[in-house]
Amino acid sequence: MVILGIHDGHGASAALLVDGRLVAAMSEDRPTRLSTRSGFPFHSVERVLALAGLTMRDVDHIALSTLRLPPKYFFVPRENFSIADFWREQTHYWKPRLDGTGTPAYLEVFADRIDPARRIYDESLIAHEDDAEGMLKARLKHLQAYSGLPAERISVHDHHTCHAWYAYMTHPNRDRDLLVFTTDGGGDGANGTVWEGRDRGALRLLHRDAKCNIGRIYRYATLLLGMKQFEHAFKTMGLAPYANEKYGRIAYDVYAGTLQNHGLGFSYTTQPSDHFFWFKERLEGVRFDGIAWGVQRRTEELLSRWVQNGVGATGIGDVVMSGGVAMNIKANKVIWELPDVTSLFVPPGAGDESLAVGAACIAAAAHPTLEAEQVEHLRPFTTPYLGEDFTDQQALRAIETGGIPEGSRVRQAGAGEVAELLAQGEVVARCAGRWEFGPRALGNRSILADPRNPHVVRQINEIIKQRDFWMPFASSVLEERADDYFINPKGLDARYMTLAFDSTPLGRKEMISGLHPYDHTSRPHVVSRAVNPDYHALISAFQERTGVGTVLNTSFNLHGEPMVAGPEDAVSTWVRSGLSHVWIGSWLVSKPVHDSSQGGCHG
Ligand SMILES: [Fe+2]
Repeated sequence: MVILGIHDGHGASAALLVDGRLVAAMSEDRPTRLSTRSGFPFHSVERVLALAGLTMRDVDHIALSTLRLPPKYFFVPRENFSIADFWREQTHYWKPRLDGTGTPAYLEVFADRIDPARRIYDESLIAHEDDAEGMLKARLKHLQAYSGLPAERISVHDHHTCHAWYAYMTHPNRDRDLLVFTTDGGGDGANGTVWEGRDRGALRLLHRDAKCNIGRIYRYATLLLGMKQFEHAFKTMGLAPYANEKYGRIAYDVYAGTLQNHGLGFSYTTQPSDHFFWFKERLEGVRFDGIAWGVQRRTEELLSRWVQNGVGATGIGDVVMSGGVAMNIKANKVIWELPDVTSLFVPPGAGDESLAVGAACIAAAAHPTLEAEQVEHLRPFTTPYLGEDFTDQQALRAIETGGIPEGSRVRQAGAGEVAELLAQGEVVARCAGRWEFGPRALGNRSILADPRNPHVVRQINEIIKQRDFWMPFASSVLEERADDYFINPKGLDARYMTLAFDSTPLGRKEMISGLHPYDHTSRPHVVSRAVNPDYHALISAFQERTGVGTVLNTSFNLHGEPMVAGPEDAVSTWVRSGLSHVWIGSWLVSKPVHDSSQGGCHG
């Protein structure tokens, strides 16, 4: 049984389930190298099939995620928006509606932003910007023509149901009853749902809400701070710890005076007329870091109360979070610290890129040719390494044809030699094995460094990353040493860099550059020998030389570009950056010393 999952909205992606096992999944930004991350994922579909040695003819069923994608957000891909575009959306599209002065068409306001690639769909839809039903028909028509599958072998699944099933099927221990929460900016008319999964059976919906506007409030706070409302939300989260109640109280009171949690649902004490201008007016003159602190604290309160109420109502203490808001690792920390929460699990890529996996899981669980108990046997996600691999020959070819600087040193190297470089204070980019699913680098497409060195953060920022000065880096920690570096009293699964923890005194000494610079919390990637033996061997070799069982780990990409995919990307990114060393498969390449000192980032 071959089931292809597809998500063609924001975070476009494809996933392939073969006989109940997830064999490949990827989001469209990796194979295309474009930041365009919505629309039909042509490349991902082709590549997940190729990874399994299959073609479309082998596919038994296609599961599409999300029923409602209004044409206005489909023809205009907002992930390409600049900050000015997001402000234009507010002032030129929404403001006239709020003031009652006009109803400008979205696709006229953004006529210059219509993506020509979207013209595969019926263009008459452009004149009907909110016609999600017409859009769904167009999407299905296109999918049938593209795949050759008849309508009865294609199903479409609700956005939040996909979020919930993805998280549920990814959980490492479904022997326990699980309580699943999903929350995001919105999808298919909801922005918060609560589910229970008991006795390894199908998920049961307990509550569905359209007022769980936590994600919406957060993203407009991010826009108010002059950052991109979707992709920069994590920067607001990173900024929040620098402020305190003195500077954040006013903002907090504004947020706390609106959205409230009641049981499993939400309501307003004071309902804002909108989620941007209303708050903008009330937050004028409030310090930027205070706004971050206020919205983050209120987010933590609302989410933790919601979870607390869910645990109380069901008696289930094993909690799972999914949807874009589950990327808020600081809120996740407040949730797992609740006394009644036994455990918290957040899967990798909890945002919309995982909807393709969720859709495929639902179709597999509900497919008439599968026995009901197949739900129990579906084990789709045991590894995050679900992208493409490459051979050493391909790596060498990429190095030979990649225009590397004259005088570069190319040689085969093992973990010992690379660990030695790291121990000497060098920064090394690693490209090895299959790439990771989701937005976090989990060692296979990572830039690595000695985490003891506090200056390495600045060094990496200058040579490649250009991250904002307040943003933390993360670390990969040997599973055997995890307790030495961060405090995890509930033994939570920290494999995916989706949870935050307080650090130990040793952590603050030996992985200081992999902690949040102000509050010293860690969002670790725990590395086990079973899941990634080669990466585990590298950190072990570093430990042999230094006694330190962790390395600084940040994603291998130039600022503003997606993470590297194959060896060609790795070479190109290395050539265009100030990185001295790149390790691709078994090939280690180092720039001539005089060249690396000229470095600088061209991203
Ligand atoms: Fe979503």
